[in-house]
Amino acid sequence: MVQTGRSGGDFTPPEAIITPDPDFRANRRGFKVTALISAPNGPLKGDIRVPGDKSISHRALMIGAVAIGETVINGLLKGNDVLRTAAALRTMGIEVIAGADGSWRVHGTGVGGLAAPAGVLDMGNSGTGARLLLGLLATHPFTTHLTGDASLCVRPMERVAAPIRRMGAQVLTQPGGRMPLAVIGTQEAVPITYELPVASAQVKSAILLAGLNIPGRTTVIEPRPSRDHTELMLRHFGADLTVDEVAGGGRSIALTGEPELQAREISVPGDPSSAAFPGVAALIVPGSELTIRGVGINPLRAGLFDTLREMGADISYGNQADVAGEPVADITFRAGELTGIEVPAERAPAMIDEYPILAAAAAVARGRTRMLGLGELRVKESDRLSAIATGLSSAGIDVAEGEDSLTIEGCAGAPPGGATVAALADHRIAMAFLTLGLAAREPVTIDDGSNIATSFPGFTDLMNNLGATITPATFANEPA
Ligand code: S3P
Repeated sequence: MVQTGRSGGDFTPPEAIITPDPDFRANRRGFKVTALISAPNGPLKGDIRVPGDKSISHRALMIGAVAIGETVINGLLKGNDVLRTAAALRTMGIEVIAGADGSWRVHGTGVGGLAAPAGVLDMGNSGTGARLLLGLLATHPFTTHLTGDASLCVRPMERVAAPIRRMGAQVLTQPGGRMPLAVIGTQEAVPITYELPVASAQVKSAILLAGLNIPGRTTVIEPRPSRDHTELMLRHFGADLTVDEVAGGGRSIALTGEPELQAREISVPGDPSSAAFPGVAALIVPGSELTIRGVGINPLRAGLFDTLREMGADISYGNQADVAGEPVADITFRAGELTGIEVPAERAPAMIDEYPILAAAAAVARGRTRMLGLGELRVKESDRLSAIATGLSSAGIDVAEGEDSLTIEGCAGAPPGGATVAALADHRIAMAFLTLGLAAREPVTIDDGSNIATSFPGFTDLMNNLGATITPATFANEPA
């Protein structure tokens, strides 16, 4: 029988639920000690790699955990978000070992093989970790409590909880479908066919991961194709999964439950969402030229590169290859003039995390850039639509924020800058405005760069090695 879960204030979470921000120590100027300032400093040059793809890293750990045998992962992102997923899996009895050579080994216990965790799983800032795990745990017969930081605890979880309840698990949330939450998993789950109300790879993946431990076919229908790393990886591990086009441009993905997933070797490509920051920096700082090696160019992730090319950017792919079903390439970015364009709503799923950095490019371009279909940006690590508009405006750029759109009047060259921007604990807002500062007339400060490490550890050093000047925003006469 399918049980109905409750949502609302009828659930009292266990102790110590919201993680305090350990980095908050304001200096005398009122900046956090983690504030950063980015100043123009001439062209960027280099030949680099960026850290591993965050989406693929989470999936490699989770799918490795429910495969049989030892999965070896090369190039795993050692960002805080992914480390939270590794820690959560360890709490559930999975051996996850970081090798001295940089590879990671996951000793999987097979589908349905996770053990009840001893305590609350704290997913930090990671929406992907929290949502995918919620799916995976729904079909394990024990109760798990999940929490996160202040940002994660205001993000919508009902979009995953609703289909999970239909499968037979219970999910108890805070009012408004927020974390902290409890998932009471079931071994008697039923397969469902679920039409996603929004094109969300996280929701799709949560349902597919739940479906692994359910006999029969679990089907997800998405209105527009979203990143398909879960599908590609499940197939790579031996799952029976079919993908069909549906009317209106969407896709139907069907998974046969209870597969015997076999441990595999995974090479995680460089994250295109991370490559976007040095890449755009090289496009907008005159005289720059930069090659980034081994970047994932899955067409459902590469929307930013397509958009920038439409704006006239000089971006070329070399050494294209296929790594375990994922296309990768070396990407070269050369500075040049960009022209504003209209970015259609249909493009959004393929570049959903890239609007903050696209906004920096649009600010430097000649003419107007309009970006449509951005409603989902309001429920990311911050309300990114408003964060972008507020930050650009304070940096002297003419911007209009619509309900789900942004219109930016490009400066046809260096924008004014000279602003302090609130990063709102959002790694991509922080990196986008630091990138803008490199191309602006006056430096741009962000009030807090601590969350950059969720997705791009080493960002500041990597940028500075290319010729950027990104430094702590402290002042000689006012030590932190
Ligand atoms: C992700 C999917 C996207 C993206 C997030 C990572 C994933 O979220 O914004 O950073 O790994 O599946 P939605 O699927 O909710 O749009």
